Amino acid sequence: MNIYLNGIFKPRKEATISVDDRGFLFGDGIYEVLRCVNGRLFRLDSHLRRLDRGIRALSIGLSEAQRADLPEIMQKLIEMNHLQDQDTTIYMQITRGASSPRSHAYPAEETPPTIMISATPFQPNTMLHQTGAHAITVPDVRWSRCDLKTVNLLPNVMIAQQAKERNVFGTIMIRDGIVTEGYNNNVFMVIDGTMYTHPDSPYILSGITREVILEFAEKAGIPVALVPVRESEVFYAREVILTGTTTDIQPVIRINDRTVGDGEPGPVTRLLQEELVKQMF
Ligand code: PDD
Repeated sequence: MNIYLNGIFKPRKEATISVDDRGFLFGDGIYEVLRCVNGRLFRLDSHLRRLDRGIRALSIGLSEAQRADLPEIMQKLIEMNHLQDQDTTIYMQITRGASSPRSHAYPAEETPPTIMISATPFQPNTMLHQTGAHAITVPDVRWSRCDLKTVNLLPNVMIAQQAKERNVFGTIMIRDGIVTEGYNNNVFMVIDGTMYTHPDSPYILSGITREVILEFAEKAGIPVALVPVRESEVFYAREVILTGTTTDIQPVIRINDRTVGDGEPGPVTRLLQEELVKQMF
């Protein structure tokens, strides 16, 4: 597999970065994960908009030309690696680049950012989408800029490990008694016929899949409430759904050993699954 690193396409094994890279030293960078199905980058504009916002918030010195090249690089990677007829994820990471000696504050403005993009064949978890998954609630121990998709993912990593050790698929993070999101997905809850999800805020990443769902709900006349939901209320939900670029629409049928709704994926989940497939494939 070939990847893209700082202007050059090369075999993944040969691609290396500096030990002084601030992504490595400080987690000082932004990333995106996109789906590319049959050669079409799903919701490219939305992903680039979120990337731009992150780059601006972190004041990373990505030039206009570098930014303009990104879509073409992604397409080229798909072609080079013969992934045009497949379901693929694109991983894109842009860090503040390498500077030495190690120093926390931003280095000189002209420090070139590190740009890495890769493409990997992807298999959605179709079985689990049909059967439903189990999840646990965990304290949301992250910082207060979760709206930025930074590569600082240690809390998410530790929370994902908890799920693995408990042998469950998902996590529902709780901050101050409120449901925020999953470690790599957003959370929707159907309560009394209304679809609830955490409002856009510094405490969640506003997912592109979440955006797709909110757009669709408006068109389809599904009532939506962008209001915080308390942890105790999750257990009254008829349906709980995790959504994300690699999660798709994943129903949760059990949380902390308590059954959600009827213990199987519900009608809203099915509708959303159908819609996402329609849009993506
Ligand atoms: N994660 N919330 C968090 C914390 C996430 O990391 C993600 C995505 C989402 C869903 O966003 P989207 O629908 O745009 O994928 C929500 C990616 C897939 C990852 O870290 O691998």
